[in-house]
Amino acid sequence: MYRIREVDGNDDEIADTLADLHRLTFFESATIPEFDQGHWWLAYRDRLAVAFAGLVPSTHAHNAGYFCRVGVIRNHCGNGLQLRLIRAMEWRAGRKGWHCIVSDTTDNLISANNFIRAGYRLYRPEYPWGWPNTLYWHKSLRT
Ligand SMILES: CC(C)(COP(=O)(O)OP(=O)(O)OC[C@H]1O[C@@H](n2cnc3c(N)ncnc32)[C@H](O)[C@@H]1OP(=O)(O)O)[C@@H](O)C(=O)NCCC(=O)NCCS
Repeated sequence: MYRIREVDGNDDEIADTLADLHRLTFFESATIPEFDQGHWWLAYRDRLAVAFAGLVPSTHAHNAGYFCRVGVIRNHCGNGLQLRLIRAMEWRAGRKGWHCIVSDTTDNLISANNFIRAGYRLYRPEYPWGWPNTLYWHKSLRT
């Protein structure tokens, strides 16, 4: 049984846990974000943090959130945690009054399939911020 909790990235202990999970899931492939910015979640198995995710205001889309990171420790992959973290993040974004969520994946079929499962659509940003092979995802939060 996994429990998802929104956490306070300003708390030093939480920030350390987020940084550890980031290192264990992204290794050296992405810079460690500023955890005191935006919204962060941890997924716990019993008392052990095994996954994390982050949401920040988008600097590219108007009134939108950017799902900036998600990582699940290898031993706990395959339990749908990314999907659950996406749902938690969408709830928060809706409460903030943001109109949509954007995100991106690069060479990552597992993550891309989770965005499809969660109802995201591919789109082409006016100013793409990733690599030539990056896929950009968008979901409107207004029905
Ligand atoms: C992308 C990621 C968050 C998905 O984790 P998840 O929510 O546990 O994935 P799912 O539960 O949807 O798993 C779907 C399938 O992929 C497999 N899978 C998930 N992550 C895997 C991994 N890192 N390595 C190998 N297989 C993996 C699962 O075992 C499952 O297989 P099954 O359908 O045969 O059971 C996770 O793979 C990860 O942390 N990757 C490293 C960091 C990363 O790439 N983040 C996303 C950047 S866009």
